[in-house]
Amino acid sequence: MIFKRIDQLDIDFFTELLSSSNIKLDPDQLEQYAHDETEDLVYSPEVVLLPESVDQLSAIISYCNKMNIAVTPQGARTGLSGGALPLYGGVALSMEKFDKILDIDTKNGQVTVEPAVITQVLQEAVAEKGLFYPPDPASRGSCSIGGNLAENSGGPKAVKYGVTNEYVLNLEVVLPSGEVIWTGANVLKNATGYNLTQLIVGSEGTLGIITKAVLKLIPHPKMNMLMLVPFRSAEQACEAVAAIFQERIVPSGMEFMERDALIWTRDFINDDSIQIPDDIQAHLLIEVDGNDESTLMKDCEAIMSVVEKFDVGEILFADSQAQKDKLWNLRRKVGEAVKSQSIYKEEDTVVPRFELPKLLKGVKDIGRRYGFQSVCYGHAGDGNLHINIIKGELSEDVWNNELSKAIREIFDLTVSLGGTISGEHGIGHVQKNFMDIPFGDVELKLMKGIKDLFDPKGILNPGKIFPD
Ligand code: LAC
Ligand code: ZN
Repeated sequence: MIFKRIDQLDIDFFTELLSSSNIKLDPDQLEQYAHDETEDLVYSPEVVLLPESVDQLSAIISYCNKMNIAVTPQGARTGLSGGALPLYGGVALSMEKFDKILDIDTKNGQVTVEPAVITQVLQEAVAEKGLFYPPDPASRGSCSIGGNLAENSGGPKAVKYGVTNEYVLNLEVVLPSGEVIWTGANVLKNATGYNLTQLIVGSEGTLGIITKAVLKLIPHPKMNMLMLVPFRSAEQACEAVAAIFQERIVPSGMEFMERDALIWTRDFINDDSIQIPDDIQAHLLIEVDGNDESTLMKDCEAIMSVVEKFDVGEILFADSQAQKDKLWNLRRKVGEAVKSQSIYKEEDTVVPRFELPKLLKGVKDIGRRYGFQSVCYGHAGDGNLHINIIKGELSEDVWNNELSKAIREIFDLTVSLGGTISGEHGIGHVQKNFMDIPFGDVELKLMKGIKDLFDPKGILNPGKIFPD
């Protein structure tokens, strides 16, 4: 792909359109927009633009389309697949000025929101009105709704409440042509033609730019209970997951953490209040929620009787909000903690949940063959395992030349178990060359055809999703 470099005439055009503080050109400023949270990857844009209105955004994108300038949309840049990296330079189009909650409609249980609203800010604003927006990626305190929509983000609550796409009713989208569309209607059912809303969700900023979203809200559950269950075998922890669902319980959180994940995180946040005996290999963090205390107690008892059939240590029940917060904080910080330990690569595999023990065992076997350590954690109830491959003492040669073969084996295994290569982080830049594993030529050609229809010149978020 060849794009036009930005020149003074382009800057003059942008200067006519935007106030000067919304055009960033200094190397220091460009550097900020050159990375997201994906490994240590850095790709500098040539200019950063911060439109403040749909009209400005539409004018920018239609100009770039006409001039053949690459445009990379950016939200809060917390992504883990490199979706916001300006691989071809050009314009980084930061959505940060679109940061308003426009309307909380309590009568219909809907909220209209701009994409730069931080997920947790939205959750707290609607919770004040007794409403619940469940999708809660680990980074919910810093990620934005636009990024969540682009990647179809999940998080711990997905196991009971589903991922982002299940809450999206209607989207305002600016296309590469500059045209502005609404994808659907503000209704809970919609059988009207192709589902453009769901096509945009998870399209990683490659089809259009979301400028407004109408999201579904549900009543906020009144209470929850949380327990941390230590297992002497990590595979058994994974086996317990499907066994709990088979007892007809749907937890609102079912998270898996290998021993190292918890120890590293405990060290990272300087909290040694959680004891991890030497023989414990993994934990499940299990939450149930609802409106009736005695029902939740019964669910907890039923979960206990399932997990006690496995080789478990002493189960910790969180007995205060402070303790719940502490346990969830531990879980949410695992990713950052692992990052702080070593150069790493994170995979986001997902399998049907009963296959999780086989996936974990297979990953460890592959690691032994290639000589790498992996730290695994994730949303076990969804069969979604985050696999952090640790560089540790591996040589540069193995890291640079052998690792992608090992990752290919992990993905082959995942797909052979009925799963796929990303559950919630997206394909973006770092997984695109593995897209031949879940899909054949026919499926990829259909996807490419959709991309070409929306973006015939390929200016929008180039270099993402499709193999090189
Ligand atoms: C998490 C992120 C990495 O689950 O998805 O912590
Ligand atoms: Zn996750």
